Amino acid sequence: MLTSKNPVKTKAWAELLKQYRSVKDLQIKNFFKEDRDRFEKFHIVFEDIVFDYSKNFINEQIKSTFIQLCDEISLKDSIEKMFSGDMINQTEKRAVLHTALRNRSSVPVFVEGKDVMPGITRVLEKMKDFSTKVISGVLKGSTGKKFTDVVNIGIGGSDLGPAMVTKALTPFHIPDIKVHFVSNIDGSHIVDTLNGLNPETTLFIIASKTFTTLETMTNALYARSWISDVLGQDAVYYHFAAVSTNIDKVKKFGINPENVFGFWDWVGGRYSLWSAIGLPIAIAVGFDRFSELLEGAYAMDMHFKNSAFDKNIPVLMALLGIWYNNFFKAETHAVLPYSQHLERFPAFLQQLDMESNGKSVDREGDKITYQTGPVIWGEPGTNGQHAFFQLLHQGTKMVPCDFIAGANSIYKEEDHQRKLIANFLAQTEALMNGKTAEEVREELERAGMGRDEIEVLLPYKVFEGNRPTNTILFRELNPRTLGSLIAMYEHKVFVQGVILNVFSFDQWGVELGKSLAKTILKDMEGEKISGNHDSSTLNLIKIWREMNSG
Ligand code: F6P
Repeated sequence: MLTSKNPVKTKAWAELLKQYRSVKDLQIKNFFKEDRDRFEKFHIVFEDIVFDYSKNFINEQIKSTFIQLCDEISLKDSIEKMFSGDMINQTEKRAVLHTALRNRSSVPVFVEGKDVMPGITRVLEKMKDFSTKVISGVLKGSTGKKFTDVVNIGIGGSDLGPAMVTKALTPFHIPDIKVHFVSNIDGSHIVDTLNGLNPETTLFIIASKTFTTLETMTNALYARSWISDVLGQDAVYYHFAAVSTNIDKVKKFGINPENVFGFWDWVGGRYSLWSAIGLPIAIAVGFDRFSELLEGAYAMDMHFKNSAFDKNIPVLMALLGIWYNNFFKAETHAVLPYSQHLERFPAFLQQLDMESNGKSVDREGDKITYQTGPVIWGEPGTNGQHAFFQLLHQGTKMVPCDFIAGANSIYKEEDHQRKLIANFLAQTEALMNGKTAEEVREELERAGMGRDEIEVLLPYKVFEGNRPTNTILFRELNPRTLGSLIAMYEHKVFVQGVILNVFSFDQWGVELGKSLAKTILKDMEGEKISGNHDSSTLNLIKIWREMNSG
């Protein structure tokens, strides 16, 4: 169990409040003028990744007060408990062991006295065998043809992680086999995806921890008919695999037991890409690349577990996040990958962070009176620059940002790459420096504008700057670096959950949505509406019934 402590009642929090007042009106750019070694002091290098947090409202004193906060809330002990299989997901009575899934050491990991590592190794071996056979064509469809398309059906954690990683590792894709992802209950998702695919050469993976999720089951049944209508009922045996903890339900669906991959209740959905939920990744890039992903995550796990807090990337990311969310009242946090391959990374992080720390009851069961998890959002650069960056630069809100990029283009498109990185670097500099009235005046004078016109235009062209950013720059986006990057954010979210005193590994809010939809579905399909609804919902159901009839 994790120690419960209201962060706001710690000595460090009171001290941070004072420090917030003394620093909030200062200029980040002046910190650099006052200290030529600022970058040296406020950046960390981990393998091929550089984490630069110098463009923030931070100094040595604030950092050490935050570390004091970590000590007061027993962060070290919480980290130990997670890694050692303690039942820290208390509301669901489960351990939290995604770190065991990528444990590359020979150190056993125990859950209730049982070492989980042999089971993990067995599943990984099975994934290796299966993915290799699908890629090589040893495993075939019912008519003896090699699979050319694999469709993963899942949602939330059973979709976002593998879909994000598969997209991110596009340059590493195995030729001649294409991996697709279907998640939405909107039928157009599966219809559009299957359009043009050949049932004879299509393999489905049904990925669902519970094997009861409405979206996934609806899409799985559709896929089963899509196969059996053309190839006959017996073909289901050849064209389906499943990843689930609910083996009984999988068997009932008619999936060949050889093609069923288990995992464990101590793997949270949004932390499950490292388990057999990662099977589509292993097929898309090959098992060796999947192993490199796990290795990268393990390396970050060791950095997180063993580094002093003041040199610990996930811890510092978490502390900065708390700083802006709880003291500067920023409320949102933008993640801006300057990488088209990381297109789905912000969406993945939304689930990771918001499903974990979007809570309002603390670990004592009491209502929380301070801010918990931020709203996470973002889009790849440079696209975002031509869309929402206006608000980042000149809006009334502070939006702390993570700028993420690989230094090198895997495709060696050097001209594109230099321009991409120039934009990436220019934005963090501009967000911090802004543009003063004097600078604008000079610029407009140089452009030949008249004095009166300049004075009218001036206020609109001034940028206040002083917008904080983190920069995460790595050598290139390969499986190992990606593994480290994801694990870095996972641990950031964990640290924030510990500080905010919430249970980060349950998601009761989402469970509510699942049951409510079932009630409404009855009222949409039944003879008459029997549910107890407000007049808005009731009338909307009626209108839908009307619009949908004939
Ligand atoms: O959205 C809620 C949730 O429980 C997620 O946490 C999970 O990843 C997703 O639903 C899918 O659940 P399952 O894997 O059981 O189908």
